[in-house]
Amino acid sequence: MIDPFLLAKPFLHFLDPESAHEMTLCALETGLVPGQPRDDDPILRVQLFGRALRNPVGLAAGFDKNGRVYDLMAAHGFGFAEIGGVTPRPQRGNPRPRVFRLPADRAVINRMGFPNDGADALETRMQRKGRSPIGVGINLASNADSADPAADFVALATRFAPYADYLTLDVSCPNTANGQVFLEPERLADLLAQLAAIPWVSAGPPMVAKLSPDIDDALLARLVAVLLDARIDGIMVANSTRARPPLRDPAASEAGGLTGVPLMASSTAMLARVRELTGGGVTLVGVGGIASGADAYAKIRAGASAVQLYTGLIYEGTALVTRVKRELAALLRRDGFGSVAEAAAAAAT
Ligand SMILES: Cc1cc2nc3c(=O)[nH]c(=O)nc-3n(C[C@H](O)[C@H](O)[C@H](O)COP(=O)(O)O)c2cc1C
Repeated sequence: MIDPFLLAKPFLHFLDPESAHEMTLCALETGLVPGQPRDDDPILRVQLFGRALRNPVGLAAGFDKNGRVYDLMAAHGFGFAEIGGVTPRPQRGNPRPRVFRLPADRAVINRMGFPNDGADALETRMQRKGRSPIGVGINLASNADSADPAADFVALATRFAPYADYLTLDVSCPNTANGQVFLEPERLADLLAQLAAIPWVSAGPPMVAKLSPDIDDALLARLVAVLLDARIDGIMVANSTRARPPLRDPAASEAGGLTGVPLMASSTAMLARVRELTGGGVTLVGVGGIASGADAYAKIRAGASAVQLYTGLIYEGTALVTRVKRELAALLRRDGFGSVAEAAAAAAT
């Protein structure tokens, strides 16, 4: 059968990326996007942040900023989905155009700056939807004009704890004035101390820090030390990059964060380094440039308990999720692993 996404793709890619994205969300909401097979290979089952998932492939933050479709992603093959980034107050983000496709590189550059409906709207939507059939992470971010970004994170974490299997602290957004202030170790330590002081925190959902690939090894080591000190539950590697590896597409000169295939090698190398620095004591999630099962497997072999993807969907639709899972299962078996966790644990040896 012809993949319906391949029929829709010329039309979607004729539109500007944000209009195409809005159309995709509407099509998902109205059930117009055919689902993917749901009979996941048992070898793909994982435990992530205390929840049993039928596979380790998650939807990365940024696709479902306002919590419109995360629960529907079960039918499209994902094992979990990350909502957001959400900020306390609604935010318009940067002026358009602010998202650019780089088809020649299978990449995207975005400088959206967290446009989202804000915490009230997301909470109302999540209350209406009830418990999700797949794992749910919520990606938290401070408002671009916030006078106290740490207070934003504390308010969001307090508010969204009841709704999430894990909470991601996005301290690595390259597209807002204060998106990366917590990449300064002292400020990160202070933020984590404020979060640890929330009364429910020890009984609340695990907290995950999402790192930027644009930091040097010395800073990475200092940040990881701060995260370990604060007993962070997870580290997500990585967000989009300001770096510009050799690219072919003319849109490469646009400002913003680069995602997709050109991010695969650097984000996986960084993940392996974080695994080395953490010694296996922290759950790792690998994200950046996944376009095949081999890419997902490389991140798992570098120590990731689960992976996420976004940009690949723009070029291949949700059939990518099915292909990644099929290829990943075959690679696990080829190398004699009985599970994703076994392969991730082997990163130490
Ligand atoms: C349009 C767009 C918006 C994004 N928005 C967010 C966001 O709000 N918060 C966040 O942590 N990451 C955001 N990301 C980054 C992704 O979650 C992911 O880390 C990155 O795209 C690398 O994965 P990929 O190569 O599979 O896309 C965004 C990415 C894109 C392409």
